[in-house]
Amino acid sequence: MAPRIVIVGFGNLGQAIARGAIASGLAAPSEIGALDPEPAQRARAEEHGLRLANPARIGESETVLLAVKPQSFQEAATALGTIPTDGPLVISVMAGVRSGAIRDALGGAARVVRAMPNTPAAVGRAVTAVASDADVAEDDLARVEQLFASVGKTVRVPEALFDAVTAVSGSGPAFVFRFLEAWTAAAESLGLSEEKAAVLARETLIGAAALLERTDDGPQVLRARVTSKGGTTAAGLARMDDAATRTGGIDALMLETLRAARDRGAELGRG
Ligand SMILES: NC(=O)c1ccc[n+]([C@@H]2O[C@H](COP(=O)([O-])OP(=O)(O)OC[C@H]3O[C@@H](n4cnc5c(N)ncnc54)[C@H](OP(=O)(O)O)[C@@H]3O)[C@@H](O)[C@H]2O)c1
Repeated sequence: MAPRIVIVGFGNLGQAIARGAIASGLAAPSEIGALDPEPAQRARAEEHGLRLANPARIGESETVLLAVKPQSFQEAATALGTIPTDGPLVISVMAGVRSGAIRDALGGAARVVRAMPNTPAAVGRAVTAVASDADVAEDDLARVEQLFASVGKTVRVPEALFDAVTAVSGSGPAFVFRFLEAWTAAAESLGLSEEKAAVLARETLIGAAALLERTDDGPQVLRARVTSKGGTTAAGLARMDDAATRTGGIDALMLETLRAARDRGAELGRG
């Protein structure tokens, strides 16, 4: 019997989703198949009790998860061949590649849903945007949400906003980490050792995130709570916002960052 779920591209995300599906009881390891040209990835799949999928039998599966880089998509699609409407549901986590292009590459009839998780999937803390377009059946959307709920939270978004969510939450962890790098380097510039700077900045980030998670207060309230008038935080924030007069400040920087990521998604989508 063919595996119920076939993961095409058993890299970072493919592996994280397989782990989540197994840990949540959604699928047994033997019900998941991996398809990847890389011998090390295939060996990893087998180590975890997964099966190696046979592209010729893809039609017997329930779900095909496309987790290859967009650049490898055509090659993967050629190996998969035609997938009919009543064939497996195709889920793509590829940035930029539109569901219409995916359907066309798979013979024009496949049911395709796009999902955009992020790397915290590796620890079960992803947030995944799921394309909610009118041409996708509710049952299919619910199946996709069930799969990604095994690695975190899910949010429905129209496919027209997919490049935007790719920028916000798909690429988002990199922006947080870049900020943390700058923060740590600045701490070192103030005289702290590399080790102490790293611990202080990192634990502050994790602690602030935990605080955000465990209270009903939003970031503005939490920020105001640290900021007494004329105090140290106020001085730092004023300097952060002061950049506004010269460069547009942190708000403009964030907007430019997300726009650049979103526009790159649109470019990838145009091929
Ligand atoms: N990383 C993120 O934060 C993130 C978030 C959301 C969505 N995504 C999307 O998720 C996808 C996968 O990302 P990733 O970080 O998991 O990438 P990855 O670690 O590079 O995994 C992709 C895997 O697919 C394999 N592969 C290449 N060509 C293939 C083919 N024709 N058939 C089957 N497998 C093939 C690759 O093998 P080789 O190494 O031999 O090429 C690699 O093992 C990308 O499209 C990305 O846009 C990523």
